[in-house]
Amino acid sequence: MKKVISLMLSIAMLLSCGSVSYAAFDAPKLSREQWDTLYNENFGDNTLPMLCVGADETQVSLCWHADKSKAKPEVLWSKNADMSAAQTFKGITTDAETADQLVCRVTITGLEENTTYYYQWNRDNGLSGICKYETKSFGSHKALVIGDVQITEYLENQSAEGYGWNSVLAEALEKNPDVSYFVTPGDNTSSGQTAAEWQTVLTPQAMRSLPMAMAIGNHDKKGMTYNYYTNMPNEYYGKFFSGLDRDFWFRYGDVLYLFYDSTSGNAPDHMAMTKEAVKLNQDAKWRIGVVHHGIYGAGDSIGDMETEILLKAIFAPIFETYDLDLVITGHTHSQGRSHFMEQNRIAGVAESGKTYTDPEGVVYINSNSVNNPLVYDVTAEHLAFNYQEEGVTTYTTLEFSGDTMTVETRRGDNSELLDSLSIKRTQQYNENSFKNIVRRILYLPIEFIGFVYTEIDTLVRLLSK
Ligand SMILES: [Fe+2]
Repeated sequence: MKKVISLMLSIAMLLSCGSVSYAAFDAPKLSREQWDTLYNENFGDNTLPMLCVGADETQVSLCWHADKSKAKPEVLWSKNADMSAAQTFKGITTDAETADQLVCRVTITGLEENTTYYYQWNRDNGLSGICKYETKSFGSHKALVIGDVQITEYLENQSAEGYGWNSVLAEALEKNPDVSYFVTPGDNTSSGQTAAEWQTVLTPQAMRSLPMAMAIGNHDKKGMTYNYYTNMPNEYYGKFFSGLDRDFWFRYGDVLYLFYDSTSGNAPDHMAMTKEAVKLNQDAKWRIGVVHHGIYGAGDSIGDMETEILLKAIFAPIFETYDLDLVITGHTHSQGRSHFMEQNRIAGVAESGKTYTDPEGVVYINSNSVNNPLVYDVTAEHLAFNYQEEGVTTYTTLEFSGDTMTVETRRGDNSELLDSLSIKRTQQYNENSFKNIVRRILYLPIEFIGFVYTEIDTLVRLLSK
């Protein structure tokens, strides 16, 4: 009888994590009915954890809400599926947006490559079910990019939106089981104000096995919830940032990722974060930027005054000074990719399917939206690729192998290849070249203008409340 009870408990625990089969990712494709069942099981709760990227490839973190009287920021971590010989990682609690909860934040360290781990976190009612997290290679590896998941605050729409989100995620992970982490340029919530939006974002089972790195978008920033549902590494609060403003960076293998809050025009802080992160990661082979707004993007960022003038003036010189290889943007819900851009001109053509060695300039990828992909008539010379299929979402992968980075964009429903570009890097970065020293001097007035603009904008927002 004890064995039967033990077996039943084990099954119940596995089901509570939603992982009964240990594939590369616990990300099954679900029918609408299966999804609705999963969605309804989690509806009304806000305690699903986000698995977040760590400061480097040897770390991940978990972030979840728990009842104030029961919150215990601890995660059990084991190499064994039965959780034997588990290590306990302890973290901290911080205030939540709700009076009766706290946010638990726990960082897992010492991860080894190509290793399968199992874990449980402390829920209000005891330990969670057992979840699985597999590390892949720390050298050659692949990242998944999906932007603007945009789960709205309208409960009548949320299950359908969540279904769309789970579907593209499951498709991408089924075809790319070698993905190591998930990069998103933000607007994954729509009002940024309700717990239910995050709960739906986090409902797909893959969110417990695919660490997320998320830039904040203008929709996320309509409220404060990003503060309570994410736990990004190396957050940079700067001298002039306020409220939710922050940048962050992380390192994975040879790649340095720089995430910017493009809803903040505080150029001095964005520049200072870049300088610090680059200084600490001189040996990184690749530098990738992630920013919500579509600088050299597709769709209605073209001709948009704020993006074309202000954001371009603030961010493009930073990306060019520090010789970023690729910048990932979103916001317009239109999939596109630029040529190699420098000083507001095409520094080099970047044709689909080609490989370029040590190119001048920066390539910009503008991601689509999960639930509301858009096609625009407007186009621009800077675009090498702009997807024009109505109502089809897409995803992008970044593959790093030796000296080569390959960027591929595929349909979100059947993974048909739409666009690809490879960049081979054989030379070291030199951000201290004479050209870049001049660039930094020329950037000083922009830092001042960006700062003044942000202060005026903050004042206008306060007065209009
Ligand atoms: Fe946006």
